[in-house]
Amino acid sequence: MGSIIEDELFSSSIIKDLHALDFDYVPGELPHRTEQLKKLASMFKPVFVNIAQNVLIQGPVGTGKTAMTKYFCQSLVQIARKQGKVLEYVHINCRKRSTDAMVLLGILTHFDARFPDRGFSVQEMLQILRNHLQRKESQLLLVLDEVDALLRKGKSNLIYDLTRFNDETTKTGNPVSVIMISQKDVFTDLDEAALSTFKRSNTIILEKYTRDQLFDIIQQRVRLAFHTNTVRGESIELIADIASEYGDARFSIELLWKAGMYADEKHVKQVVPEHVRAAKAETYSIVTETKLKNLGKHQLLALLSIAKRLQKEDTAYANTGDVEKTYAITCEEYAEDVRGHTIFLDYLKEIELAGFIRVKPSGKGQVGNSQFISLPDIPAEVLRSKLEELLT
Ligand SMILES: Nc1ncnc2c1ncn2[C@@H]1O[C@H](COP(=O)(O)OP(=O)(O)OP(=O)(O)O)[C@@H](O)[C@H]1O
Ligand SMILES: [Mg+2]
Repeated sequence: MGSIIEDELFSSSIIKDLHALDFDYVPGELPHRTEQLKKLASMFKPVFVNIAQNVLIQGPVGTGKTAMTKYFCQSLVQIARKQGKVLEYVHINCRKRSTDAMVLLGILTHFDARFPDRGFSVQEMLQILRNHLQRKESQLLLVLDEVDALLRKGKSNLIYDLTRFNDETTKTGNPVSVIMISQKDVFTDLDEAALSTFKRSNTIILEKYTRDQLFDIIQQRVRLAFHTNTVRGESIELIADIASEYGDARFSIELLWKAGMYADEKHVKQVVPEHVRAAKAETYSIVTETKLKNLGKHQLLALLSIAKRLQKEDTAYANTGDVEKTYAITCEEYAEDVRGHTIFLDYLKEIELAGFIRVKPSGKGQVGNSQFISLPDIPAEVLRSKLEELLT
């Protein structure tokens, strides 16, 4: 019964599998990332003789860092299992979990879904993790995605703690391998001690996709998500052309998804270039919807407050103080506790780092209230409605 309803709710004459257009979907093959996957695999050879590896994956937005890492780790876990080795793979998004304690909590819930979310110190949690790994005789493959959010405050010791994890009682090697992912170079954010466990040569750089590479990626997605012959070849060409300006696969997939939605709404049998153009008018290169889903609730509330201010006053810039007032009201609307000033400023920093806003000093020199915020590539009204949808 449930599946009849589900089919009806999600079926369409053109889209075969909506899930394949999801933000966290990882396709069975990753075109144009084979070389990088090979490089990763060769770096991880030592893991099979219990020598942990630490790697940094770096590249601009939408270049496949997250997708490639998930693909690699899932494969590695399976291959290890065939060899009788247990690898525990945990993928943490540091934009969502931006302190050592929150990251550790995320790791521990992997081992014990009911692990209490407060009451343990970082040191205690490290010990509990050590126990889990010893008991299961397993190694941890930890991915710290968008790791700049964790490192930027300069308070994180986690990388150091985890990469020097082997305690004196066990004679085995370090059971924790860390893969850091970031858009920018994070070596500058690591202190000497942590840095010494990361070899700079263990960096994999992903470049922006070219137009033709994007074409292949879109074509693959069309095959996975759409019924045969429902997306005209020209539409794929056009998406690749538009997205090539950014080299961003996520943006191209959102264009495809939106174009599909348009065609669906119009009850036509094919996605044609006009649908792509309509999709383009509603899809923004920096503020992609899938990127928004990676923000925490309060970052979303802060961003919504910015959109509200800019829309209401129809201005180019909103100042931090005004936005904070709107944030307090917005929190009330959504029945969330208002966070204090310092934490609020931190949220702004987070959304700035994630690329959603631009911040510049207002020149007034009042500390804290002295910043001007603007939106880079999206109308405030559009952002507001996207956020309101996400927050309900
Ligand atoms: N080579 C590829 N083949 C197929 N799909 C891809 C490829 N590279 C990226 N994608 C898809 O594009 C989207 C964006 O990729 P991903 O999330 O890995 O980017 P990212 O580099 O992590 O970006 P960000 O820095 O914004 O986190 C995902 O939906 C992913 O599945
Ligand atoms: Mg990513």
